[in-house]
Amino acid sequence: MNARLKFSDSLNLIKSFRTSGTITPSSKVLIKTLLAPIDFTAARCIIELGPGTGCVTRSLLKRMHSDCILICFEVNNDFVDQLATLQDPRLRVVNACASSIRSILDELQIKEVDHVVSSLPLALIDDEVVKNILESVRSNLREGGRFLQFQYSLSNYSELKPIFKNVKLDFTFRNMPPAFVYECTK
Ligand SMILES: C[S@@+](CC[C@H](N)C(=O)[O-])C[C@H]1O[C@@H](n2cnc3c(N)ncnc32)[C@H](O)[C@@H]1O
Repeated sequence: MNARLKFSDSLNLIKSFRTSGTITPSSKVLIKTLLAPIDFTAARCIIELGPGTGCVTRSLLKRMHSDCILICFEVNNDFVDQLATLQDPRLRVVNACASSIRSILDELQIKEVDHVVSSLPLALIDDEVVKNILESVRSNLREGGRFLQFQYSLSNYSELKPIFKNVKLDFTFRNMPPAFVYECTK
C-alpha cells in the first residue's frame, strides 16, 4: 500500500473510530499472520467481516484461487463504496452487520463457507451481538474451517473457547497497536 493511500485510509478510520476501533490499517505482518492458516489452493468461499478500507481484502484477493469467492460484510457506507472500486468479479461487498451471514448466504445459495476472516472490533460491539456473530460464524463454517480474528486485547478470548473445537493464539508486535491473532477451528 502506498503512503498516500495509507494516509487517506487512516483518516477515514479515525473519522469512524467508534465503529472501526482503530486509527490505521493493519500492517503487512499482521495480515500475513492472520491469513497464514488458509490453504488458498483449496478454499472456494471465504467471508471477511469488517473489511474497512480493504487492506485485508486486497491480500485475500491476491492469494485466492480464480474460482474462490469472497463475501465482505461491512456496516460503514463509505467503506462499502470504497471496496466496490476494487472491481474484482470474485468479490461481493454486502452493506450489512456481520450477524446477518446466514440470510446473505441464503440469497447467494451457499450452504457453508471454508473460512471466515475478521477484523471486527469485538471489544466495541454489544455482548449480545458478538454472541450472535460468533454463533453464526461457527454454524456457517464447514467442518475443519477456520475463523481467523485479530484483536488488540484478549477481552473476547473466553467467549471463543466454548464455541470452537480449538482456539490457537498468536501475537505480533509489528502492528499499530500490537495485536493478538486467534485461529479458531470448527
Ligand atoms: C478495525 S477496522 C478493520 C479495517 C481493516 N480490515 C484493517 O484490518 O485495517 C473494523 C471494521 O469493522 C467494521 N464493523 C464494525 N462493526 C461491524 C459489524 N457489526 N458488522 C460488519 N462490520 C463491522 C467497521 O466499520 C470497520 O470498518
